[in-house]
Amino acid sequence: MAALNQLVPIPLLRLFFFFFFLASQLALACDAGDRAVLLKIKAGFQNPGKFTSWDESVNCCTWYGVLCYPHDDGGRVTSLIYYNIDGASSGGLFGRLPDELGDLPFLSSLVLGNHPNVYGVIPLTLTRLTRLSFLNLAHNSLSGALPSFLSQIHSLAVLNLSFNKFRGLIPPEFFNFAALRYLSLEANDLEGVIPSTIGNLSKFPLPLHFTLSHNMLSGDIPAELGVPNWETLDLSHNMLTGDPTALFAANKAITYMDLSFNKLEFDLTGIEFPIKLKKLALQNNMITGSIPPQINKLDHLFGFNVSYNQLCGIIPAGPVMNRFDDTSFFRNKCLCRSKDTCLAVGF
Ligand SMILES: *[C@@H]1O[C@H](CO)[C@@H](O)[C@H](O)[C@H]1NC(C)=O
Ligand SMILES: *[C@@H]1O[C@H](CO)[C@@H](O)[C@H](O)[C@H]1NC(C)=O
Ligand SMILES: *[C@@H]1O[C@H](CO)[C@@H](O)[C@H](O)[C@H]1NC(C)=O
Repeated sequence: MAALNQLVPIPLLRLFFFFFFLASQLALACDAGDRAVLLKIKAGFQNPGKFTSWDESVNCCTWYGVLCYPHDDGGRVTSLIYYNIDGASSGGLFGRLPDELGDLPFLSSLVLGNHPNVYGVIPLTLTRLTRLSFLNLAHNSLSGALPSFLSQIHSLAVLNLSFNKFRGLIPPEFFNFAALRYLSLEANDLEGVIPSTIGNLSKFPLPLHFTLSHNMLSGDIPAELGVPNWETLDLSHNMLTGDPTALFAANKAITYMDLSFNKLEFDLTGIEFPIKLKKLALQNNMITGSIPPQINKLDHLFGFNVSYNQLCGIIPAGPVMNRFDDTSFFRNKCLCRSKDTCLAVGF
């Protein structure tokens, strides 16, 4: 590879690999069963304009949004990817997600996003996809209760259901995934408490990315929220109450934490911040106490906001806190840069 690099300029090399990839796709003869399933999916979505290449006379491994991988009996469909970049303005899929999506046994990635006219529930048949690792259905109009049967897909690593219309309580069984690394439920109509079974997400020890922001969740944060190995956690813009201190300890791996715009009520004074934090957003809550001096040990911290809380005391001067201007601290009860500048940030 290194030798090839020296002989051939990079763009040419890229072109070479692109054509190599294209040729490998062309050479694969599409599995007849997969082709029949895709044609049913096309009909289920009311023959959308973007699927004109989905023509029976053409090898289905070359169809728009379809990728295959060679298997003994021909090319099996492994990816179905149609993220509609035009959004609401044009194109896109129509109708419910067809049950036949569950009939592509080699599917590992399914991305159908930004189709405002795709509505209804997620079909139960998806649980048949035992190789599915990437499921992105963001920015559709899917509705109903959160489908907890998705956790039966043990291969699932990424699940993106953000910007849909899922509503109601989060079922306690929902978090029972085997291998999930990324979960976004952002911007739905979820309400009620975060079930304590959220601790069940920790069965897989790798760092987790989780977003529940912009819902209508309420009630006290469960202590089990401190169990999973979060790398990023976004619970912002809900109505959560209680005490999230289980999330804080110097040795936690979390780098990004957003708890802003909730009703959290706890004392910050005794908190030990995770040392790897890059962003900590706590603004617009009801946090009391003062900012602990340990904050100045967070070398990586480049986003920090505690404004609109009930904090008091002097902001501990140091290399980290000096990075932030008054808008990170204003509208607290009696928080001061120093004894002389209390008024500047306090009110
Ligand atoms: C999930 O969907 C949102 C909204 O489209 C997007 O911003 C985010 O990058 C997606 N994440 C993944 C891992 O696909
Ligand atoms: C959570 O995980 C435990 C242990 O695997 C299991 O016994 C329990 O049923 C799970 N809870 C739910 C609600 O699925
Ligand atoms: C902190 O949050 C407040 C309130 O939402 C906002 O007005 C301010 O601009 C934010 N400051 C920073 C530095 O993000």
